[in-house]
Amino acid sequence: MEWTNGELLWIAQSQEDTTRLARKLADLVVPGTVIALDGDLGAGKTTWSQAFAAAIGVREVVNSPTFTIIKEYEGEKLPFYHMDVYRLSQEEADELGLDEYFFGDGVTVVEWASLIDDLLPPRRLVISIQHAGDGSREFRIKGYGAPYAEWCQMLNEIGESEG
Ligand SMILES: Nc1ncnc2c1ncn2[C@@H]1O[C@H](COP(=O)(O)OP(=O)(O)OP(=O)(O)O)[C@@H](O)[C@H]1O
Ligand SMILES: [Mg+2]
Repeated sequence: MEWTNGELLWIAQSQEDTTRLARKLADLVVPGTVIALDGDLGAGKTTWSQAFAAAIGVREVVNSPTFTIIKEYEGEKLPFYHMDVYRLSQEEADELGLDEYFFGDGVTVVEWASLIDDLLPPRRLVISIQHAGDGSREFRIKGYGAPYAEWCQMLNEIGESEG
């Protein structure tokens, strides 16, 4: 874990590394947390979401919500709202009432979040995932507003410790 240009950089050489990052974040989340995931097709957004869900105690199988757009799960720690907005139209967005999720009792993870930039709360954690060769992935993490900016400081401090 290191800082580059105001973002935290986490290099995942494997899905186990993705899982370790998900666990570290799962320790920090509170009701109303919004995590925006960006990254190309196959970057690893759903994989990260599944690891994160497991880490907050979701026991159900978490599938890619590409076709359902949003799916709600019960977690031991918090409810989990999993969105994939790749195919979301403006009309559907209005019908779904996204703010009910964003400002609800659970934690919302949004795949392809930058497609609905104007509908997201300004305070959020943004994670951008990129392919980085040899099957590894780069996670760039940035917090906008409280408490997300502080979370990045904390993540950096707990850094490489096992979790
Ligand atoms: N950290 C990782 N290291 C190696 N392989 C990974 C990693 N994360 C994900 N993968 C692999 O990449 C593939 C695509 O992952 P995933 O479905 O999570 O991507 P996605 O970003 O959700 O894609 P989409 O845009 O289609 O929703 C999967 O086969 C998964 O096993
Ligand atoms: Mg996906």
